[in-house]
Amino acid sequence: MKQDRAIKPILEVLAGRRRAIPPVWLMRQAGRYLPEYRVVRSQVGSFLELCFTPKLAAEVTLQPIRRFGFDAAVLFSDILVVPYALGQEVSFESGEGPRLEALTDGRGLGLLRETIDANVVEPVYEAIACVKQGLAPEVGFLGFCGAPWTVATYMVAGRSTDDQAPARLFAYRDPAGFSRLIEILIVASVEHLVRQFEAGVDAVQIFDSWSGVLSPEQFCRWCVEPMREIVAGVRGRVPNARIIGFPRGAGSLLPHYVAGVPVNAVGLDWSIDRGFARGIIPGDVAVQGNLDPLALVAGGRALDSAVDAVLAAFADAPFIFNLGHGIAPETPIEHVQRMIARVRAYGGGGES
Ligand code: CP3
Repeated sequence: MKQDRAIKPILEVLAGRRRAIPPVWLMRQAGRYLPEYRVVRSQVGSFLELCFTPKLAAEVTLQPIRRFGFDAAVLFSDILVVPYALGQEVSFESGEGPRLEALTDGRGLGLLRETIDANVVEPVYEAIACVKQGLAPEVGFLGFCGAPWTVATYMVAGRSTDDQAPARLFAYRDPAGFSRLIEILIVASVEHLVRQFEAGVDAVQIFDSWSGVLSPEQFCRWCVEPMREIVAGVRGRVPNARIIGFPRGAGSLLPHYVAGVPVNAVGLDWSIDRGFARGIIPGDVAVQGNLDPLALVAGGRALDSAVDAVLAAFADAPFIFNLGHGIAPETPIEHVQRMIARVRAYGGGGES
């Protein structure tokens, strides 16, 4: 079909080619800052019900594309769908974040399944098929999962924590048990990502939101190594799979990640020194990021100059414009519009 050959700017950048006007999407672009999301959310009993109802998950995935014309849609789901499909109890308390049945020791591990329950995750892949029908050919479609370390922090603590201490302690006290948990998550993540590709996503992002709390040795063991295995495992089944890695907070350890994990793009958080990151990411690997989400909340001239600084720093790289972490629920919609207009006016507004 002619449509299938339409060029998607984000895929061109993930192939290592720079676009004069960078493609743009935002982490958590489907969510509470959108009134139309809040309407759909109020129609279901729980957040997980929204994730597992294909038509509604597809609808909220498409909402930000309709409103803003982003260059990529990101599947509406959550990284904690994986522990849920491994048999752990997961729920989301309104305004309080996730609650899981905490895995405090090796015994809890024995209760997990060896791999994800296909029946539990099936609606996620059905949602992908629904989204595909509603997307214009030039819009990319991203699936995702959490990196094993980040998912493990929630599985062990049973909730969000400030410093991920429960998982770090578990890893020091029982490295063999923790390693077993990471192994289970590697297998589950590969399966979940491959199934997303088979259902129709163009690329995936792996969120390592808590990679920044680890010592250098632990960073290599619990972030870099598992990520390397996942990338190899996915590409073994989906040759040339396009993968974006997001090691949030990696900071001075970023070179280990870049050298050890052969992703197509590295997502940067807002705290990194951009020149440092630019210097260590090879020229054929795309950069994604890294506007401070609070600059987007602030708006006005502070937003304009923060956008310009990001664009200038990555002016010579294959580049995808994004935030340095998820969009804040209090973000005004006009600020998102202003940001997109500024990114697209970059380079004089000409076509690339
Ligand atoms: O980016 C997108 O628009 C796609 C959807 C998406 C969600 N979560 C929806 C969501 C994605 C990619 C995620 C990833 C995710 N989930 C991460 C990694 C990225 C990051 O933010 O660090 C993490 C750590 C989670 C776990 C999670 N889910 C937490 C800690 C929370 C509660 C905090 C919060 O922001 O409310 C969630 C809930 C969640 N996931 C919401 C959304 C839209 C809000 C819940 C609601 O609307 O009721």
